[in-house]
Amino acid sequence: MSEELEVPEKSVLFVCLGNICRSPTAEAVLRALVREAGLEARLGVESAGTGGWHVGEPPDPRAREAARARGLRVEGRGRQFTAQDFARFDLVVAMDRENLRALRALAAEVEHDAELALLRDFEPGAPPGSLDVPDPYYGGEGGFDEVLDLCERACRGLLAHLEAAHGLTSSR
Ligand code: 4NP
Repeated sequence: MSEELEVPEKSVLFVCLGNICRSPTAEAVLRALVREAGLEARLGVESAGTGGWHVGEPPDPRAREAARARGLRVEGRGRQFTAQDFARFDLVVAMDRENLRALRALAAEVEHDAELALLRDFEPGAPPGSLDVPDPYYGGEGGFDEVLDLCERACRGLLAHLEAAHGLTSSR
């Protein structure tokens, strides 16, 4: 019996520091938009952290709860970004400038064609300049709602970018 393995046309990796708050939230938000657009088979979405402290851990309960209130499931286990991820993903999206700097330093280590970007670069109507998705880990509950708001706005722009610049085609 032959089993068809679906390989997505395009792939996105979100990257934050711990891979338990921001990047798994962005992953959940983009996955929901991709599902809505009927693009599940065409676009792969994952997340990772530049730091290794939370490898193997589930997402932060505060991130899960804030997302659950919006009907989203933040799932997965923390994993650390490696330079090889640049060769595996078409688009690597940092959640803030500090993570973008860390990724740029690793990008030189491997030959790749991945595009490296900052999430809020895709936020429609965002003020000019390089903007961070603020780290909610040491802050209050409201920080997780702000992360969700920013991810929801920017991921819509990101999906449009994937369609326009990466040739992602919709089945609908
Ligand atoms: P994240 O948040 O980068 O959005 O997953 C953090 C999670 C953990 C830590 C820092 C930020 N930490 O220092 O352990």
